[in-house]
Amino acid sequence: MSRFIKAAVALLCAAASCTLLAAPPYANVGRAATPQEVAAWDIDVRPDFKGLPKGSGSVVKGMEVWEGKCASCHGTFGESNEVFTPIVGGTTREDVKSGRVASLRDNKQPQRTTMMKVATVSTLWDYINRAMPWTAPKSLTTEEVYAVTAYILNMAEVLPDDFVLSDQNIAEVQGRMPNRNGMTQAHGMWDAKGKPDVRSTACMTNCGDVKLRSELPAAARNVHGDLSAQNRSFGAVRGVDTTKPASQLALAAKASVPGMSAASVATAAPAGAAGGQPASAAAAAAAAAAAAAPAPGVAKAAPGGMALAKQNACLACHGVGNKIVGPALRDIAAKYKGDAAAAQRLAAKVKSGSSGAWGPVPMPAQSHLKDEDIAAMVGWILDGAK
Ligand code: HEC
Ligand code: HEC
Repeated sequence: MSRFIKAAVALLCAAASCTLLAAPPYANVGRAATPQEVAAWDIDVRPDFKGLPKGSGSVVKGMEVWEGKCASCHGTFGESNEVFTPIVGGTTREDVKSGRVASLRDNKQPQRTTMMKVATVSTLWDYINRAMPWTAPKSLTTEEVYAVTAYILNMAEVLPDDFVLSDQNIAEVQGRMPNRNGMTQAHGMWDAKGKPDVRSTACMTNCGDVKLRSELPAAARNVHGDLSAQNRSFGAVRGVDTTKPASQLALAAKASVPGMSAASVATAAPAGAAGGQPASAAAAAAAAAAAAAPAPGVAKAAPGGMALAKQNACLACHGVGNKIVGPALRDIAAKYKGDAAAAQRLAAKVKSGSSGAWGPVPMPAQSHLKDEDIAAMVGWILDGAK
């Protein structure tokens, strides 16, 4: 664009927005958010601990919280299992002294853990407070968040067994974080030099070849099962159908995003759009396609068993057609096909927990559920989880 055209466009825009200001188009629509509503959203805790509620929690209490509400997914020692990335591991007492995690450089640890990477204790506190447990975010009390954060740090040998973490001492604890000096600022996110760190031009038609900078290798695409089947049962978290090759999804996206080619969607979509995986153009386009299409089972009335399974977060651990933490529901149906007593036996196992039938990971007891709800869900599962 020439300088002249740029200036002309700027003038036009200024003129247009002036007109808009003169005649507000949405008079009498909506209202200001109340202070209570703002407070309910404004929960972030920053590295300088702005936003951190007063309170405390002990390592001992944290162990209780962990075992009751976290260990079923993240493992007894935070080592997690094959689906969730491990939280604890890979840090040493040396790292606590230096503030740089050595195994990030020597690659001796097979997989990077949360404790290896996280530089600020506020991030850990904030994330647990807002997002965990996965099946019931924001359900922890302030004391429980302090306590379970302390327990994670205890498992990582950052804090002693008798420690009580509080708003009074959390700044000192920050001084013991193994990777506190490991945060890099030498890239675009920090070093924007006055320009936005993401620069791209939205292409609306005939975009030609798009060059991909990074892409999820085909071999890694489906290693954790179909991401689109692992969505939370609430909120707009969408996944990509990883059972299909990316190229197939890109075509589908092209067909279903009107006025936008898959290529332009790819350049516009933020990194990580594909369920926390590095976003390839195709994956991002597929996420956009998923956003455009109505989510299955949300708008339509779902059959009782399926609705209950969603509502009770069974699908956080069981995919319909794929194994997540627990076996695929269709595999359960296949295993007990023709077994007339299975319904009753499985209902009892859902109620009181199950272990050893499918592998080393146990299913926690779902004893809070009503018997008739469990029967409906098990009936739906044995019927093929359609
Ligand atoms: C039903 C399974 C489940 C339960 C129970 C659960 N989590 Fe998680 N947790 C997850 C998943 C899945 C992620 C990854 C979320 C994502 O990437 O968006 C996660 C991520 C995390 C992370 C961030 C890891 C990282 O490096 O990004 C922390 C910390 C964490 N969980 C702590 C907890 C704590 C503490 C509890 C108990 C209060 C808990 N979780 C209970 C499934 C679970
Ligand atoms: C935290 C993860 C998790 C959650 C949540 C979960 N399950 Fe499971 N489920 C598992 C695991 C792991 C197994 C395999 C246990 C085993 O090997 O015995 C399993 C096994 C099962 C089985 C088969 C048991 C057998 O003996 O073959 C059924 C049926 C089942 N789950 C139903 C449900 C229902 C219904 C819900 C929701 C109310 C649910 N699960 C919630 C993890 C989970």
